[in-house]
Amino acid sequence: MKHLVIVTHPDIENSTINKTWIDELSQYNQQLTIHQLYKAYPDYKIDIQKEQELLIKHDQIIFQFPIHWFSTPFLLKKWMDEVLAYGWAFGPNGENLKGKKVRFAISTGGNVEAYSEGNSIEDLLKSLTTSFLF
Ligand SMILES: Cc1cc2nc3c(=O)[nH]c(=O)nc-3n(C[C@H](O)[C@H](O)[C@H](O)COP(=O)(O)O)c2cc1C
Repeated sequence: MKHLVIVTHPDIENSTINKTWIDELSQYNQQLTIHQLYKAYPDYKIDIQKEQELLIKHDQIIFQFPIHWFSTPFLLKKWMDEVLAYGWAFGPNGENLKGKKVRFAISTGGNVEAYSEGNSIEDLLKSLTTSFLF
C-alpha cells in the first residue's frame, strides 16, 4: 500500500528544506502520495470527506512540515481539528485510524543545541504524538 505524505508549508516556493524533500520524494510516486495542504486548500476550506478518504486508502501517514512557533503551521492544526472528527477518528465508531502508522518529518530553524535537554524534538512533538496515540 502507498504511503501518504501530508505536506504543510505556507510558502513552499521559497522553502529550502521541505521543497528539497518533496523533490526527492517525487521520484517515488509509485510508493507515495504527496498531498500538499496549502496547495489543495488556498482558501483554507478543507474538504473533510476527501481527507478522510485519503487517510483510509493509506496505512502509513507521514506529516511533513516546518516548525512554526514550536508547533505546526496553522493549516495542519485546522486539518487535525476538522478531519480527526468525533465518531470518525475517536469516540463511537471512531476507529478509522486504528493500526495506521504515523510519522513526522519536521524541519526547524533552530540548530541541534536549540533542541537539547529540556527542549527536545520529542518534547516539541508531544502534543502530536499524544493525539495520534489517543
Ligand atoms: C512563522 C514562523 C515561525 C517559526 N517558528 C520556529 C520555531 O518555533 N522554532 C524553530 O526552530 N524554527 C522556527 N521557524 C523557522 C522554520 O522552522 C524554518 O525556517 C523552516 O523549518 C525551514 O524549512 P523550509 O526551508 O522548508 O522553509 C519559524 C518560521 C516561521 C516562518
